Amino acid sequence: MAERTLVLIKPDAVRRGLIGEIVARLERKGLTIDAMTLRTMDVTLADQHYAEHVERDFYPPLREFMTGGPLVSLIVSGDEAVSVVRTLIGATDGRKAAPGSIRGDLSLSNRENLVHASDSPDSAKREIALWFPDFAN
Ligand code: CMP
Repeated sequence: MAERTLVLIKPDAVRRGLIGEIVARLERKGLTIDAMTLRTMDVTLADQHYAEHVERDFYPPLREFMTGGPLVSLIVSGDEAVSVVRTLIGATDGRKAAPGSIRGDLSLSNRENLVHASDSPDSAKREIALWFPDFAN
Protein backbone atom coordinates (compact mmCIF):
# COMPACT_ATOMS: atom_id res chain seq x y z
CA MET A 1 0.00 0.00 0.00
CA ALA A 2 1.34 3.45 -0.89
CA GLU A 3 2.42 5.39 2.18
CA ARG A 4 4.63 8.28 3.23
CA THR A 5 7.65 8.39 5.49
CA LEU A 6 9.87 11.14 6.90
CA VAL A 7 13.57 11.00 6.06
CA LEU A 8 16.35 13.22 7.43
CA ILE A 9 19.71 13.39 5.67
CA LYS A 10 21.69 14.24 8.79
CA PRO A 11 24.34 16.95 9.24
CA ASP A 12 27.23 14.45 8.85
CA ALA A 13 25.91 13.44 5.41
CA VAL A 14 25.46 17.07 4.33
CA ARG A 15 29.00 17.89 5.54
CA ARG A 16 30.40 14.90 3.64
CA GLY A 17 28.66 15.84 0.38
CA LEU A 18 26.39 12.78 0.40
CA ILE A 19 22.99 14.42 -0.24
CA GLY A 20 23.00 13.41 -3.91
CA GLU A 21 24.17 9.86 -3.20
CA ILE A 22 21.42 9.30 -0.63
CA VAL A 23 18.62 10.89 -2.66
CA ALA A 24 19.77 8.86 -5.70
CA ARG A 25 19.49 5.61 -3.73
CA LEU A 26 15.94 6.48 -2.68
CA GLU A 27 14.95 7.42 -6.24
CA ARG A 28 16.63 4.40 -7.85
CA LYS A 29 14.58 2.16 -5.57
CA GLY A 30 11.46 3.68 -7.15
CA LEU A 31 10.43 5.87 -4.25
CA THR A 32 9.08 9.38 -4.85
CA ILE A 33 10.28 12.62 -3.22
CA ASP A 34 7.13 14.56 -2.26
CA ALA A 35 8.91 17.37 -0.36
CA MET A 36 12.53 18.30 0.36
CA THR A 37 14.02 21.16 2.42
CA LEU A 38 17.51 22.11 3.63
CA ARG A 39 17.35 23.58 7.13
CA THR A 40 19.02 23.57 10.54
CA MET A 41 17.05 21.89 13.29
CA ASP A 42 16.61 23.95 16.48
CA VAL A 43 16.64 22.40 19.94
CA THR A 44 12.87 22.67 20.34
CA LEU A 45 12.26 20.65 17.20
CA ALA A 46 15.01 18.20 18.20
CA ASP A 47 13.30 17.55 21.55
CA GLN A 48 9.96 17.03 19.80
CA HIS A 49 11.36 14.85 17.02
CA TYR A 50 13.33 12.67 19.47
CA ALA A 51 10.74 12.79 22.28
CA GLU A 52 11.17 9.07 23.00
CA HIS A 53 14.95 9.52 23.48
CA VAL A 54 15.23 12.75 25.51
CA GLU A 55 15.94 10.89 28.76
CA ARG A 56 18.56 8.57 27.25
CA ASP A 57 22.29 8.99 28.01
CA PHE A 58 23.05 9.30 24.32
CA TYR A 59 20.57 12.13 23.78
CA PRO A 60 22.63 15.26 24.73
CA PRO A 61 25.42 14.51 22.22
CA LEU A 62 22.82 13.38 19.68
CA ARG A 63 21.00 16.70 20.04
CA GLU A 64 24.25 18.63 19.69
CA PHE A 65 25.08 16.69 16.54
CA MET A 66 21.62 17.02 14.99
CA THR A 67 21.40 20.78 15.64
CA GLY A 68 25.03 21.45 14.70
CA GLY A 69 24.59 22.06 10.98
CA PRO A 70 22.13 21.95 8.13
CA LEU A 71 20.23 18.78 7.32
CA VAL A 72 17.80 17.81 4.58
CA SER A 73 14.26 16.79 5.51
CA LEU A 74 12.19 14.85 3.00
CA ILE A 75 8.81 13.26 2.63
CA VAL A 76 9.31 10.04 0.68
CA SER A 77 6.42 8.01 -0.67
CA GLY A 78 5.85 4.64 -2.30
CA ASP A 79 4.58 1.12 -1.70
CA GLU A 80 5.35 0.25 1.96
CA ALA A 81 7.69 3.26 2.05
CA VAL A 82 8.21 3.12 5.84
CA SER A 83 9.70 -0.38 5.93
CA VAL A 84 11.33 -0.12 2.48
CA VAL A 85 13.30 2.99 3.53
CA ARG A 86 14.30 1.43 6.88
CA THR A 87 15.72 -1.55 4.94
CA LEU A 88 17.54 0.75 2.51
CA ILE A 89 19.22 2.72 5.31
CA GLY A 90 20.25 -0.35 7.38
CA ALA A 91 20.82 -0.94 11.10
CA THR A 92 21.34 2.04 13.42
CA ASP A 93 25.03 1.33 14.04
CA GLY A 94 26.93 1.94 10.80
CA ARG A 95 29.65 -0.48 11.96
CA LYS A 96 27.09 -3.31 12.05
CA ALA A 97 24.75 -2.29 9.20
CA ALA A 98 24.68 -4.67 6.24
CA PRO A 99 26.83 -3.90 3.21
CA GLY A 100 24.59 -2.57 0.46
CA SER A 101 22.61 -0.41 2.88
CA ILE A 102 23.31 3.33 3.11
CA ARG A 103 24.76 3.09 6.62
CA GLY A 104 26.49 -0.21 5.86
CA ASP A 105 28.28 1.29 2.88
CA LEU A 106 28.93 4.82 4.15
CA SER A 107 28.92 5.10 7.98
CA LEU A 108 31.25 3.91 10.75
CA SER A 109 29.24 5.38 13.62
CA ASN A 110 26.28 4.66 15.87
CA ARG A 111 25.43 8.37 16.19
CA GLU A 112 26.64 9.93 12.95
CA ASN A 113 24.73 7.43 10.88
CA LEU A 114 23.82 9.71 7.95
CA VAL A 115 20.06 9.17 7.78
CA HIS A 116 16.96 9.04 9.94
CA ALA A 117 13.73 7.43 8.76
CA SER A 118 10.43 6.97 10.57
CA ASP A 119 10.17 3.56 12.25
CA SER A 120 6.41 2.98 11.79
CA PRO A 121 3.44 4.48 9.93
CA ASP A 122 2.33 6.16 13.18
CA SER A 123 5.79 7.71 13.66
CA ALA A 124 5.74 8.84 10.04
CA LYS A 125 2.46 10.65 10.59
CA ARG A 126 3.75 12.34 13.76
CA GLU A 127 7.11 13.30 12.20
CA ILE A 128 5.60 14.60 8.94
CA ALA A 129 3.29 16.82 11.01
CA LEU A 130 6.34 18.20 12.86
CA TRP A 131 8.56 18.80 9.84
CA PHE A 132 6.00 19.58 7.15
CA PRO A 133 2.80 20.87 8.79
CA ASP A 134 1.38 21.74 5.36
CA PHE A 135 1.52 18.06 4.37
CA ALA A 136 -0.07 16.64 7.55
CA ASN A 137 -3.34 14.80 7.07
P1 CMP B 1 17.93 7.72 14.36
O1 CMP B 1 17.37 6.73 13.40
O2 CMP B 1 17.89 9.15 13.98
O3 CMP B 1 17.19 7.53 15.78
C1 CMP B 1 17.77 7.85 17.00
C2 CMP B 1 19.21 8.23 16.83
O4 CMP B 1 19.95 8.19 18.02
C3 CMP B 1 19.91 7.21 15.94
O5 CMP B 1 19.47 7.35 14.62
C4 CMP B 1 21.36 7.52 16.21
O6 CMP B 1 21.80 8.69 15.51
C5 CMP B 1 21.29 7.85 17.70
N1 CMP B 1 21.61 6.71 18.55
C6 CMP B 1 20.84 5.62 18.78
N2 CMP B 1 21.44 4.79 19.65
C7 CMP B 1 22.60 5.39 19.98
C8 CMP B 1 23.68 5.05 20.84
N3 CMP B 1 23.64 3.92 21.56
N4 CMP B 1 24.72 5.89 20.92
C9 CMP B 1 24.73 7.03 20.22
N5 CMP B 1 23.76 7.43 19.38
C10 CMP B 1 22.71 6.61 19.27
